[in-house]
Amino acid sequence: MKIHIDGQLLDEADAKISVFDHGLLYGDGVFEGIRIYHGRVFKLEEHMDRLYDSAKAICLEIPSSKDQLTQDLLETVRANDLRDGYVRLVVTRGKGDLGINPRLCPKASIIIIATTIKLYSEELYQHGLTIITCATRRVNSAALPPSVKSLNYLNNILAKIEAHQANAAEALMLNDQGYIAECTADNVFIIKKGVLYTPPVSAGSLRGITRGAVLDLAVEIGVPVKETDLTRYDVFVADECFLTGTAAELVPVVQCDLRPIGDGKPGPVTARLLAAFRELTGSTGTPIFNEAAPVAAHGAGLPANLGVEDGTPEGALTAAS
Ligand SMILES: Cc1ncc(COP(=O)(O)O)c(C=O)c1O
Repeated sequence: MKIHIDGQLLDEADAKISVFDHGLLYGDGVFEGIRIYHGRVFKLEEHMDRLYDSAKAICLEIPSSKDQLTQDLLETVRANDLRDGYVRLVVTRGKGDLGINPRLCPKASIIIIATTIKLYSEELYQHGLTIITCATRRVNSAALPPSVKSLNYLNNILAKIEAHQANAAEALMLNDQGYIAECTADNVFIIKKGVLYTPPVSAGSLRGITRGAVLDLAVEIGVPVKETDLTRYDVFVADECFLTGTAAELVPVVQCDLRPIGDGKPGPVTARLLAAFRELTGSTGTPIFNEAAPVAAHGAGLPANLGVEDGTPEGALTAAS
């Protein structure tokens, strides 16, 4: 595997950063997780914009222009000959001393890793996930805005540990007011009487790029959309529920806190949105290679029980958040 660090493509064994990097010492930095489908980078511009916004919010100067960073990302994917996969783009505060002072870190470091990672098993896509509500609250935006996709994920990791302890796939995180913020690395949606609901970003969630794509798709296919505060009760009595994320894509949830959601199976609106999402990921994106990338068939990759019959695309189940 070839890894890009600060302008150089290195073999994995040589890809190293300093132990004095504040990304390591303090989680001081920002990142993006980006998907590649069929030789194209999905929503690349949106990811680049969010990365630079996250950096700006924490006063971190990225030592590269958006255009240059985009070229570096594409070069890294090409060097690893990936057509389906996942890119982790990391910007750390860089090398400093052992104190937290970011002013003593003269130059941020840029790391680009392009790979494939399996997140959920096929079984979970077909039958849906079980989630629990965790005791760990989503960090208050007055302390650390959840809109910043920072390297500091301890809040989410503590929630994930609770999910594991309860044998659940994911943990629903509430904000200080008790409203739903998001899951540990995914946005949350419910469907009730044909309307799609998701919490506003102000409730403490990341402005997910998959979330945005799914909201647009819902409008396109005629599913009414409402961004509003949601409670656990709303999830318990929902007809359907699903999570979205770059790695998770769109994954059904069939149980929350031991209550079945709807009839306890992935529902029809989820299936329609998943089909629309597959079509979008199969037909759009920034080309990586010169050759024309094949376009996925409509609905490719849907689990059989979600009502589409034509197979699973390459890379459908790979990658992380
Ligand atoms: C905390 C959190 N929420 C939501 C998401 C989903 O966002 P996206 O769809 O941009 O991957 C992610 C993953 O990036 C995340 O880490």
